[in-house]
Amino acid sequence: MKVMVVGGGGREHTIVKKIKENKGVTELYALPGNGGIAQDAVCVDIGAKDIEGITAFAKEKQIDFAIVAPDDPLVLGAVDALESIGISCFGPNKKAAILEGSKVFSKNLMKKYGIPTASYEVFDDPKDALAYLETAPIPTVVKADGLALGKGVIIAETREQAVNAVHTIMEDKVFGKSGDHIVVEEFLTGPEVSVLAFTDGKTMIPMVSSMDHKRALDGDKGLNTGGMGTVAPNPYYTEDVATECMEKIFLPTMEAMNAEGRTFKGCLYFGLMLTADGPKVIEYNCRFGDPETQVVLPLLESDLLTIMQHIANGTLADAEVKFSKKAACCVIMASKGYPGKYETGFELTLPENRSHIFVAGAKQKDGKLVTGGGRVLGVTEVADTLAEAIDAAYATVKTVKFENAYYRNDIGQKALAAEV
Ligand code: AMP
Ligand code: GLY
Repeated sequence: MKVMVVGGGGREHTIVKKIKENKGVTELYALPGNGGIAQDAVCVDIGAKDIEGITAFAKEKQIDFAIVAPDDPLVLGAVDALESIGISCFGPNKKAAILEGSKVFSKNLMKKYGIPTASYEVFDDPKDALAYLETAPIPTVVKADGLALGKGVIIAETREQAVNAVHTIMEDKVFGKSGDHIVVEEFLTGPEVSVLAFTDGKTMIPMVSSMDHKRALDGDKGLNTGGMGTVAPNPYYTEDVATECMEKIFLPTMEAMNAEGRTFKGCLYFGLMLTADGPKVIEYNCRFGDPETQVVLPLLESDLLTIMQHIANGTLADAEVKFSKKAACCVIMASKGYPGKYETGFELTLPENRSHIFVAGAKQKDGKLVTGGGRVLGVTEVADTLAEAIDAAYATVKTVKFENAYYRNDIGQKALAAEV
C-alpha cells in the first residue's frame, strides 16, 4: 500500500512513524517532510500548500491513501482535489475545514446550535469594532477571522491594547484577508484542555486528553508560540468532564456540521477551557494539534492507518481505538530566540535508541542533520506515571546536542500539581 502524508513538521513526523507500524505500507512519502522525516519516509519537495503539485504527485505515484495533516491545505481544499481524482483521504474537505478556517463561522455555528463558548460580537468594519470597545468589558479577546499562523488571537488586558489589535488586524492587515472580519469575545478563565477526536460524521471517538504549553518561557511567561511542550493525559479532564464535553460539545458539533451539510471527517481538535460555568470551546481546529500529537499518538495502541481508513470509508464505528493508560510528556527543543529571530544550520546529535524523537525543523546538509526551524525537535517519553514521563523526557533532552538549543524546564509541572 502506498501512503503519502502532506506536511513537514513534528506532527507529521509523529504521524509518519505511527503509519510505518502498519506492515501493509510498502511506500511512504512526505510532502515536503523534513530532514528528520527523511529517515522514515521518502521526502518529496512539494510544499504543503501546493495543491496542484500534491494531486499531480499522488496521481503519478498511484497513491492508495493520503493523509493531509496541516490546516492550510485542508482549508484550501486539498482533500477535495485528491478525492476528485479518486484518492482516498484522511482529513476534512474544504466545506468542513471552515470550522478552523473561519472563526466567524465557528462562533456562529456554536451560537446557532447552543454549544458552550465565550460570548462574542463579529465586526466587518473597524469603526464599529472601535465603538464597541469603548464600553466592552476588559480584558477582552480580539481574533482575526481566518488563519493567521497561530498569531491571530490577541488577549487585550487594557482598552488600549484592544484598540491597537483592531488597528493592526483590520486596518494594517498584518494577517492579510484573515483580518477582513474579526471576533471580539469574552475573556474566559480556567484550565485549558486539548481534546483531539476521530470522527467520520457518524461516530465520535475522543483520543486521550492533553495539555499544551503555549508560552515561550517557564511559568507561562513570554510570547505565544506554536507550543513548547505537552503532556497527556490532562489531569483536569476527569471522567465527569469528559462525559459533559461529549454531551454538550463533541456530539453537538458533529451533528451541527451534518445539519449544515458540512460533514466533518478526520481529526477534530477541541481547544477547551474548563470555566466555573462548565467546559467551553475556545477554538476548533480541523486537524491534529502540534505538539499534542507528539504525546497522543505514542499512547495509541491501535493501528492508526486502519482507523484513518475507517474514517475515510465512514465505518469508524467498526474500528478499534485503544489508548494506553500510561502518561506521556513531550518537551520541545527550539532554536534560541524562537518565536522571534533565531539562527539555523547547527548540527544535531540525537541519541540512537529513543523511538519518540520527532523532528520539526531540521534539514539534511552534506549528509548531516542540521537545525532548520524555530521548533527543532519534540522529545517524548512514555511512562507509567506523569512524573516519570516528565523525568524521562528531560533525561532524553539532556542527551540531545545542538548549538543554541532552548527549551522550557517546567513542561508538565502544572499538570503534576493538579494531580494531587
Ligand atoms: P491560538 O492557539 O493562537 O488560537 O491561541 C489561543 C490562546 O488564546 C488559547 O490557547 C487561550 O489560551 C487564549 N484564548 C483564546 N480565546 C480566549 C478567551 N475567550 N478567553 C481567554 N483566553 C483565550
Ligand atoms: N498546539 C496547538 C495547535 O496545534 O493549534
